[in-house]
Amino acid sequence: MNKIKIAPSMLSADFSKFGEEVKLITENGADFLHLDVMDGVFVKNISFGPKFIKEARPYSTAIFDTHLMIVEPWKYIERFADAGSDIITVHYEACKERLVDTLKAIKSLGKKCGAVINPDTPASAIKDAVEECDMILLMSVFPGFGGQKFIADVLPKVEEVRNMINATGKDIDLEIDGGINLENAPLVKRAGANVLVAGSTVFNEKDRKAIIEKLRNE
Ligand code: DX5
Ligand code: ZN
Repeated sequence: MNKIKIAPSMLSADFSKFGEEVKLITENGADFLHLDVMDGVFVKNISFGPKFIKEARPYSTAIFDTHLMIVEPWKYIERFADAGSDIITVHYEACKERLVDTLKAIKSLGKKCGAVINPDTPASAIKDAVEECDMILLMSVFPGFGGQKFIADVLPKVEEVRNMINATGKDIDLEIDGGINLENAPLVKRAGANVLVAGSTVFNEKDRKAIIEKLRNE
C-alpha cells in the first residue's frame, strides 16, 4: 500500500496572507499542498492562476499539487509548470480524447501528471490513461467549491481505480478530493485512496498539526 499523504486544499486558506498560510501548513505536516485552479468556465468559480502559485512557491518545500479545473488545460500547463507545480492534474472532462497527450505534455515539462474524474464519470473513461499517470484524482464532490458534502457513492469507484492501478504494477498515487473529514477518511483509505485532500476540515480547525495527523492516522 502506498504511503498515506495529506494534501490540505489551499482554497480554504486566508488569501490575504497566502504565503504565511503556505509556510504554516507545511510546518504543520502537510505532504502536498493542493492548489485548486478554477477558471469560471469549467467550474462556476474563479480562484487563482500561475502568478499566485509562483509567489507562494518560496514559502514551502512541500509538493505543489496543482488541480486544474479549467477548459483547454493544455494551453496553460507550461505556465503552471514554470510557476513551481510539482504535480499537475487535468480533468478528463476538460480533455476527453486529448487526455493522454496532455499528460505526456506535462511529463515532458519534467513534472508529475495526473488525470481527474468527476463523481459522475466512470473509471472506464481513464482506462487508457492510467499507465501515463503518476497520480489519479477522484472527485468526491462536484468541483467548484470547498466545504461540500462527501458523495459516498464514489467509494466503489475508489476500489475499482485502485484495482486498475494495481494491474499496472506501477507506483501510482490515488488521491481523493471533496468533503474529506475524520469520519470518511478511514473509508476512503480502506477503499484504496492514499492521498487525501482536505480543505475545510483542516482550515476550520485551530490545531492544524493535530488534524493533519488525525487524518493521516485515523
Ligand atoms: C473542489 C476542490 C477541492 C476543495 C476541497 O472543487 O477541488 O479541492 O477545495 O475542499 P473541502 O475539503 O472543503 O471539500
Ligand atoms: Zn481540488
